[in-house]
Amino acid sequence: MKKDTHINSGKTKSLFSTDHEDDLIIEFRNDTTSFDGKKFAQLNNKGMINNYFNAFIMEKLSQAHIPTHFKALLSHTESVVRKLDMLPIEFVVRNISAGSLCKRIGIKEGMTLRPPLFELFLKNDSLGDPLINEDYVTTFNWGAREEIIRCRELTFQVNTILQPLFLEANILLVDYKLEFGRSNGELFLGDEFTPDGCRLWDSKSREKLDKDRFRQNLGQVIESYEVAGRRLGINFPHIEEGG
Ligand code: ADP
Ligand code: TMP
Ligand code: ASP
Repeated sequence: MKKDTHINSGKTKSLFSTDHEDDLIIEFRNDTTSFDGKKFAQLNNKGMINNYFNAFIMEKLSQAHIPTHFKALLSHTESVVRKLDMLPIEFVVRNISAGSLCKRIGIKEGMTLRPPLFELFLKNDSLGDPLINEDYVTTFNWGAREEIIRCRELTFQVNTILQPLFLEANILLVDYKLEFGRSNGELFLGDEFTPDGCRLWDSKSREKLDKDRFRQNLGQVIESYEVAGRRLGINFPHIEEGG
């Protein structure tokens, strides 16, 4: 696999074309952001931890017949993925109240949500990723109604697969964000599934093991990602100082 041209750098990952037209290399960087990029830091080893975390989860989802973009790990911080035409939408499922939901409707963190909530956000940092609904997607031509129905179905299937997986590791899957894209007329799960894009709490103490540690200045950010990963059974390569 030959790494060709750099095609895009987002806030935390970079994409490169390859000598295979349908494949991209996705590089997980140490860059860490929150509040739509307003808070920023470089955290040692985050790229490597997230690359391995993502590979592990994507493989579990593929085994459970979720179509994902993930193909293979390439290096400590890079993976090969299927090139997608991404929908500009973030698909969120919430099992327990936290984050923007608590602010928006004035409820306490930690309430069990039954049934789980499904939300759509427009992926637009300068607008603060506003909450939208299915009708916005069709009116503004961001996707077809059938595509949103399919993405909703896949997003809930991911919950059914991952909630028990995390619970076995004594972790509550509080909420998560997914992104989907098209390839040859099919929808695939793209982007990443890592502690950057979900909330994970220890099931007994409710200690946070995700990016809220960064958002809320709780410290031990990457150490907590690693704890969550090791509990799931992920074998991270030896962690290098300053890596
Ligand atoms: P952002 O700052 O937009 O969140 P990231 O740093 O996460 O960006 O970079 C990843 C970018 O690559 C995102 O815009 C994401 O939608 C896009 N992306 C993720 N997976 C794929 C894929 N398989 N094909 C094309 N684009 C992708
Ligand atoms: P929120 O509570 O901030 O709306 O976030 C809900 C979930 O979605 C949480 O797990 C974090 C994730 N998320 C992202 O990964 N990227 C984003 O841009 C946003 C807004 C949320
Ligand atoms: N993902 C967004 C950012 O990186 C929002 C957040 O995580 O708070 O800024």
